[in-house]
Amino acid sequence: LRHLLTLDGLPREQLVALLDRAQAFADGEAGRSLAGTAVCTLFFEPSTRTRLSFQRAMQRLGADVLNFDASTSSTSKGETALDTLKNIEAMGVRGFVVRHSVDGGVAELAAAAAPGTALVNAGDGRSAHPTQGLLDMLTLRQARGTDFSALTVLVVGDIRHSRVARSDLQALRTLGVGTIRACGPAALLPDDATLAGCEVSQDFDAALEGVDAVMMLRLQRERMAEGLVSSLDDYHRDYGLTVGRLRRAAPDAVVMHPGPMNRGVEIDSDVADGPRSLVLRQVANGVAVRMAVLEALLA
Ligand code: CP
Repeated sequence: LRHLLTLDGLPREQLVALLDRAQAFADGEAGRSLAGTAVCTLFFEPSTRTRLSFQRAMQRLGADVLNFDASTSSTSKGETALDTLKNIEAMGVRGFVVRHSVDGGVAELAAAAAPGTALVNAGDGRSAHPTQGLLDMLTLRQARGTDFSALTVLVVGDIRHSRVARSDLQALRTLGVGTIRACGPAALLPDDATLAGCEVSQDFDAALEGVDAVMMLRLQRERMAEGLVSSLDDYHRDYGLTVGRLRRAAPDAVVMHPGPMNRGVEIDSDVADGPRSLVLRQVANGVAVRMAVLEALLA
């Protein structure tokens, strides 16, 4: 693996090997395999979980960590993302974790990087968020075991604008989940191949019946054309996950959300903070998964 740009097409064995390695890190394995390697977080969009958990992963692997802050950088003087990358590369940095607002923006930078440089996509536009997909699979695996074939997993909400949903759906298919359901209002369902093989519904209550895992998505108002959602109250009424609604799922169903959460919109606080929620387990697993990815690319 030279770069990690997407989970689309990543062979099952490679995906499972990354999850196995991440589980070892989650179980406390120490590693200093990036000692002496300079790695930079290069985020052109805001982030809390992804940026800081990558930095934590770099620290745990012993890397020299550089943090690029777009708001105080020379991009404000018009410097391009590519010039930014090439200049930091010239300082001896070998690894970049990049978030970009444009679909394909990270792949474009990877294509122009020097032969010894590795890039990880930390989210590009609506396209992909591969390490989120991996950490979600690790979290699901910890909760439900490694055989996904009997599981029914429901992905709910603003799938159209979600790079998380795209990476999750790719990984769920690769790992052979028995039934994948997708649910959201028509305006927020994608019109491309994202939902291939999924049972698609606009009725959240029906879609929840008997599911083993519910993967909620953030309503991404920053990527949305005006008017796609009539009101937040209506959205919550039709697609908000409440304690009452969750009773339709299997008795031991788990709830996931990549964060940041719009509490009271797509998920109620008593679900997000409740006994079925794996939200903070996802965040913890983010460090372990990112250690496994950085090690695979750079060690
Ligand atoms: N889940 C996720 O990508 O969160 P951040 O935007 O805070 O990194």
